[in-house]
Amino acid sequence: MFQIPRGTRDFTKKEMQKRKYVENIIRSTFISFGYNEIQTPTFENLELFTAKSGDKIIEELYSFKDKGGRDLALRPELTAPVIRFYVEKLQMEPKPLKLFYFGNCYRYDRPQKGRYREFTQAGCELIGTNTPEAIAELIALAYTILKNAGVKKLVLNIGNLNILSLIFKKFKLPKEQQTYITPLIDKSKYDEIFDALKDFKIKSEDINLLIDLLQTKNISEIKDFIIDDEKGKEELERFEKIIGLLINAYEIENYNIKIGIVRSLDYYKGVVFEIDAPSLGAEKQLCGGGSYELVSLFGGRDTPTAGFALGFDRTIVALESENYKFETPKLDVYVIPLDSNLIEKALEIVQLLRKNKVSVDWDLLKRGVSKSLKYASSINAKHAILIGQNEIKQNSITLKDLKTGKQKLVKINDLVELFMK
Ligand code: HAM
Repeated sequence: MFQIPRGTRDFTKKEMQKRKYVENIIRSTFISFGYNEIQTPTFENLELFTAKSGDKIIEELYSFKDKGGRDLALRPELTAPVIRFYVEKLQMEPKPLKLFYFGNCYRYDRPQKGRYREFTQAGCELIGTNTPEAIAELIALAYTILKNAGVKKLVLNIGNLNILSLIFKKFKLPKEQQTYITPLIDKSKYDEIFDALKDFKIKSEDINLLIDLLQTKNISEIKDFIIDDEKGKEELERFEKIIGLLINAYEIENYNIKIGIVRSLDYYKGVVFEIDAPSLGAEKQLCGGGSYELVSLFGGRDTPTAGFALGFDRTIVALESENYKFETPKLDVYVIPLDSNLIEKALEIVQLLRKNKVSVDWDLLKRGVSKSLKYASSINAKHAILIGQNEIKQNSITLKDLKTGKQKLVKINDLVELFMK
């Protein structure tokens, strides 16, 4: 017996129907915001992912040598691949460039509910602008996708790494102290932050003020703190404008300012955001993104970039946990020839309907009416077409509604029109 590798999943046809249904909503929402779909390879040169994060990221990757001795890695995310693609081939495209993607990603994570080693991201990259209007639209897009997909309870958290580093600067925290407390900030472990900063000989009142600022939902508190810093003031004004647009133009009410959002990838700069589904517990983050810098690192002409990715699998889990009613596609017709010499006639009807975009299956096992009808119901067919000698003599078939059980004689010539309604 073979077993599926740890952290991977098979999807039944029912699960695939749910996934495809949600995928279509996500895709059409990206398109409605002016984005175009692209695709990149599943594996890349390992260096693409170590260029920014260093070798420490290799622990989290599926990396390997191919037969030619090249160091490769299965992609853990799609931002670096998309920017590699942009720098290689798309720099001359008119700006802003709005690209979206669906793709499976691979991370050597510890598997649990909502966290897998192979998972799917739906995401986008906005290249060539970072005006407050652009960033607000990006955040609104992420939120709208999840709303359109049907997730009811969402919490949007918005932070800003430039403001966070200004706060660090004002507290005169050296780089190594920042590096030490950053993951603790990411996990909101404020007691541990307090102890660490105490060990670094920072005054308790300063630590308390820092922890307050990391948790405040009130921009004016941060404004008062960095009021004498020109760059900081400018950044805060931009930040306020983005938030104003989210509230007024995009009518997003359920958001928090969370200056302590750090994000675990190393390329972010400026505004960052995350969207959580509180119903999911530990792995509740459905979406993460923000402004970032990779283009010049990859050898391109500098241009602003921002984007986000949402965890497609987690979105499905969130919908399931809210008892979402997924619309599942139904088969229009199941065709049953009552006699083996009517198979040719049945196939004529099958073909006629399929050519007219009616979804049709038919009795491949030649198992007779009652078993066929049972099977047709089990595969969610809406109608059955029964083809017998009597019907054919009248150029007709019997059409049975599998929900109501009602049946009627229908002329073959009228059949297509009936299904077109
Ligand atoms: P990320 O936060 O690492 O960001 O991943 C985005 C989303 O992918 C997460 O919020 C989560 O829902 C989902 N996800 C991550 N790891 C797993 C896993 N092991 N199993 C299931 N779902 C997972 C990025 O990847 C950035 N590239 C986003 C971005 C695009 N930033 C700018 N542009």
